[in-house]
Amino acid sequence: MIKVSAPGKLMLFGEHSVVYQRPCIVTAVNYRMSTILEKRNDDKVVLNAPEVNLLNYTASLASLDKLHPKEAQFAIRALFNFFEKYKIRSGINIQTKSDFNSKVGLGSSSAVTVNIIKGLSELLGIKMNQEELFELSYKTVLDIQGVGSGFDVAAAIYGKTLFFNLKERIFRLIETEKLPIIIGYTGIKADTTTLVKMVKEKLDKESGKINRIFDEITEIVNLAKIEIENSDWEKVGELMNLNQELLRKIDVSSKELESLISASLSAGAYGAKLSGAGGGDCMIAIAPSDNYHNIKDAIQRVGGQIIEADIQAQGVKVEA
Ligand code: MEV
Repeated sequence: MIKVSAPGKLMLFGEHSVVYQRPCIVTAVNYRMSTILEKRNDDKVVLNAPEVNLLNYTASLASLDKLHPKEAQFAIRALFNFFEKYKIRSGINIQTKSDFNSKVGLGSSSAVTVNIIKGLSELLGIKMNQEELFELSYKTVLDIQGVGSGFDVAAAIYGKTLFFNLKERIFRLIETEKLPIIIGYTGIKADTTTLVKMVKEKLDKESGKINRIFDEITEIVNLAKIEIENSDWEKVGELMNLNQELLRKIDVSSKELESLISASLSAGAYGAKLSGAGGGDCMIAIAPSDNYHNIKDAIQRVGGQIIEADIQAQGVKVEA
């Protein structure tokens, strides 16, 4: 039996442009998804994921590439891809436990995928380095979702605060003090697939304009990496505001996000922006710590919910 856990993620800079192989900066959040795996003596996979109401979902090894319920897809595809790649098979019991509410959009499907592949490699004695773990987990996410930049998979594996560039396979940990970030949840679930499609349509129609926006976001991401390393939170805040301005131009913000963002800026945040796909989910603000209280109050007064989360969490790990 083996127990592994992986963190959730919070996008800091570069959402949407990262889908087109540009860089982004992401931090891991210490709301973890844990997964227990154990071998069975038959040819069955039995999955228990109470957080998505999946109880004793059973599939035979021969049916792993068939259709499965949405709640089981990532886990089953991760098993299938692992068995195919390493030409090995075993019946498996899988039990997941989540600290996080998948509604908030902190990345539970990438965390569960990474856990299962990491857990299988430990359980079945197959050595995998982090790059191999990334490639197989990312392939699994693409098999299910069709689109996705892989930044959430990288955050689940490497943890901490990460500069991510898929094209050049750069996964660089950013050395930094604790980022003074406040997270506000709009209460609205973002529809990532629809928003990613909408941006793709814009890119197809107005490629010059949208690519110029993506170029500007890329510049912001590169500068943000330096300012995070310098712990210059005021500059990081300015860059967040610039990134948000560009996200508005591609229409992924929403009135709820804007109201949380402007409340935090009026209360003295250095900067604020949406985090993730937009449309809902979370916004983040960076602020002097002596002003945290006022900013949290301001966000709550306009209907936002504060998510208390430890960021820069450790990546996937085997639990004792
Ligand atoms: C969603 O959290 C972030 C997007 O960039 C999509 C992705 O990178 O997969 C919008």
